[in-house]
Amino acid sequence: MCGIVGIIGKDAARKVINSLKILEYRGYDSAGIAVMLNGRIEVRKAAGTIENLISRYPDILEMRGELSIGHTRWATHGKVSDSNAHPITDCSRRIAVVHNGTIDNYMEIRERLSAKHEFRTETDTEVIAHLIEEKLNRGLGRLEAFVSAISELRGEYAVACMFEGANELYLARNRIPLVIGVGEGENYCASDVIALLNLTNKFIYVNDGEFALITSKNIDVWRFEEGRLIPVEKRINLVDWSPSMTSKGKYEHFMLKEIFEQEDVVKRILMESRRYIKGALSILEETMKNGGRIIFLAAGTSYHASMVGKYLLNSLLGYPSEVSIASEFTRWNLRGLSEDDLVIAVSQSGETADVLMAVKSAKEKGAKILSFVNVPGSTLSRESDEVFFFSAGPEIGVAATKTYVAELVSFLLTFTELGKITGDPVYHVAEALPRLPSIVASCLESSNRIAKALSEAIKGENSIFFMGRGINYPTALEGALKMKEISYIHAEGFPAGEYKHGPLALISEGTYSIVIGSNDQEIRDLLLSNVNELKARGSKVISVETDEHLPSDIRIKVAENGLPEEVLPVVFVIPLQLLAYYTAVTLGRNPDKPRNLAKSVTVK
Ligand code: F6R
Repeated sequence: MCGIVGIIGKDAARKVINSLKILEYRGYDSAGIAVMLNGRIEVRKAAGTIENLISRYPDILEMRGELSIGHTRWATHGKVSDSNAHPITDCSRRIAVVHNGTIDNYMEIRERLSAKHEFRTETDTEVIAHLIEEKLNRGLGRLEAFVSAISELRGEYAVACMFEGANELYLARNRIPLVIGVGEGENYCASDVIALLNLTNKFIYVNDGEFALITSKNIDVWRFEEGRLIPVEKRINLVDWSPSMTSKGKYEHFMLKEIFEQEDVVKRILMESRRYIKGALSILEETMKNGGRIIFLAAGTSYHASMVGKYLLNSLLGYPSEVSIASEFTRWNLRGLSEDDLVIAVSQSGETADVLMAVKSAKEKGAKILSFVNVPGSTLSRESDEVFFFSAGPEIGVAATKTYVAELVSFLLTFTELGKITGDPVYHVAEALPRLPSIVASCLESSNRIAKALSEAIKGENSIFFMGRGINYPTALEGALKMKEISYIHAEGFPAGEYKHGPLALISEGTYSIVIGSNDQEIRDLLLSNVNELKARGSKVISVETDEHLPSDIRIKVAENGLPEEVLPVVFVIPLQLLAYYTAVTLGRNPDKPRNLAKSVTVK
């Protein structure tokens, strides 16, 4: 959602602008920066893109200050406008603030301060600037004023603040991501590590309730308890992602680059992520030994991966589990949850508010948390008992692609290794795993051309239906999600058997149905009759299969007939990702930044 950057160091404004450009992927509607020039704060901000900001203020890249904060805004309180863009200043423009999150008690504070303070925006953030100003006016020092003002806020925030005449950056965090980057003679802060990768790979993760004061030489972090600032020792973490991972390279869009990275991602998980498996195995083993419940929790694409995870646990290990959309994990699910139970939280960003909330409630009941996460140092990873980092590298395209496949492969690896320990029959799947990278590579190659051609055929459709059975029902859901979110064509996924119970009424002459095949004879036979039913009603059927079993009109053939059913979701999703991508591009949409969507959903 909103993105924050702060730099104390040479050429701060230019560096902030560069980092803000990287943060664009989170989604935003306005942008702005504040720079300290000759001891005074200069603000440049505007509704629209960063490019628009630069063309409105051509001097912006020439501002030579050594302290700057910047922001990409995703409007929550107040319309998209130049004045509502951040940074936001106090009455005297001596204080500049950027904020991600929402302040629940901002109306109350605004009413209290409005007699003495001039409010110039419709944002909740503005109360932060005036509240700090109020404290300064009462004689508090900068740090005390900042801490005291922030402590009056209710809600969620990552805040960065600068004061006229002081080369210092003040930070606070509550339930919204914020990291500190450690440089050579300069330091930084940002909403995520990706924004700072071209400056450093050393990071300090700020926890909820912590405050920080950064200068070019020092980083101090405190907790504020019982009216006192208590220093907190922080560890510097190395992140092994490189800045080149955040560029598009030879690809037109990040999404296409990330789809084509999937061979390497699978390879990396099978080779390198093994180091995270020990903790995952021991917590799973212990839960299963105690007969505890296992509940997958996730949102969006990660939820679809979790559905596959549930199938895998059941089919490979014969262990029942549950899967819940994080935002639907309510007090009813929590009933009876205990210390014996395990929540498997799955998230690319590790910052999804719905997931973090659900995990918090589960922890309060004593359940253990095993997370599968992509982003190092993310909140979820720090809230978990055990973490499996699937290390797919930064995913910049808003639509999750390589991280979906990474989640699936991480489950396959973890659950087959577990099966070897428990003596379950997993060898047919374990044996197929080393071949997965090359299977993914040939699937990418064979489905790219046909997906491109098909996008021309379906681009004029109002609705497209996806269906699958068993472990590939989630593949149908994921295919439909990709299609709708980036092409804006209505798309729905169904279990193929459920069609006749209602959705079949939507099928008319020429409607496109995309049927996900199977290597399981029983499922194949059922799919065969589903396809015949669809065709009898005039639907044009596209199938994704390993051979030529279904009587479809158009067939996308990938992988091999003998591949275990458990592995198929990894390959079957690839043509669906490509189909969604090319359809969006053909329709002139930007697949990397679909309308109304953000990469990291930090609001509930
Ligand atoms: C869809 C998509 C979203 C995310 C969802 C959860 O392409 O990207 O549906 O999957 O917002 O995000 P994470 O996995 O970061 O928790």
